[in-house]
Amino acid sequence: MPDPNCALCDGTGWRPVERGDVSGVERCSCEQVERPARLLESARIPARFERASFENFSLPRDNPLANESLSKAMLDARTFARHYPTTDRAGLLFMGGPGVGKTHLAAATLRVLLDRGFEGIFFDYQNLLERIRSGYDPASGSAAREAYQAALDTEVVLLDDLGAHRVTEWVEDTVFAVINHRYNARKATIVTSNLPDPDLGDAVAHKDAASGKYSVRDTLADRIGGRARSRLFEMCKLVRITATEDYRLRGLR
Ligand SMILES: Nc1ncnc2c1ncn2[C@@H]1O[C@H](COP(=O)(O)OP(=O)(O)O)[C@@H](O)[C@H]1O
Ligand SMILES: [Mg+2]
Ligand SMILES: [Zn+2]
Repeated sequence: MPDPNCALCDGTGWRPVERGDVSGVERCSCEQVERPARLLESARIPARFERASFENFSLPRDNPLANESLSKAMLDARTFARHYPTTDRAGLLFMGGPGVGKTHLAAATLRVLLDRGFEGIFFDYQNLLERIRSGYDPASGSAAREAYQAALDTEVVLLDDLGAHRVTEWVEDTVFAVINHRYNARKATIVTSNLPDPDLGDAVAHKDAASGKYSVRDTLADRIGGRARSRLFEMCKLVRITATEDYRLRGLR
């Protein structure tokens, strides 16, 4: 049986191939793969996070505060991944600065859930909005299942970098529609965001290193609207990462 959600063959079991000038079809690999492997493929986790796991998430040894914050975040994510759907919240909301490992932990959580047989999908927030706006999903080859529908109905959705988009009324309404639908259906939603939230004690004033001038950063509520933010806080367990060191820069010190 082919996978009805296969992105390669569109669920037909035959995928298009091109050899020189000749195009044809061949048996799709989704016919053979087992469910977890198939689920992993249809989750479309970006290459960078394909192998992100709890096992390869390293904890800093030289910084006790960062170690504590990251250990706690990892434990929360692990507990959720292991116990879903019998968790008290239907999702996880990773908040913290850039490069602290939010997407890594979110992807690791998603991978455990896929491995346990739940269907899930990774969405880059900005990309999802663009796809919803354009009305179809070019990467899937056809409108087999529209991005919007997938964002609403897939059992587990990872929304990466929530709020990384300029704000318009359309964006605010769309984000609210997705989050509210998932909230009502109690579907698992895993979210990452590096936007500040004053209610969590985040500073919104930002001093530019070069000019020394202060500016005010947009908050989560500014970017996604107060309604979506309040739903999120209610449906997700907050995983606050207070470590500030960008993992990508760790080796550079
Ligand atoms: N503690 C960690 N151990 C191993 N790899 C990490 C860790 N934190 C971050 N990374 C890696 O560093 C890169 C940046 O992390 P990422 O999760 O994208 O950060 P964020 O989403 O918080 O901006 C990714 O490639 C990620 O896999
Ligand atoms: Mg990220
Ligand atoms: Zn296929």
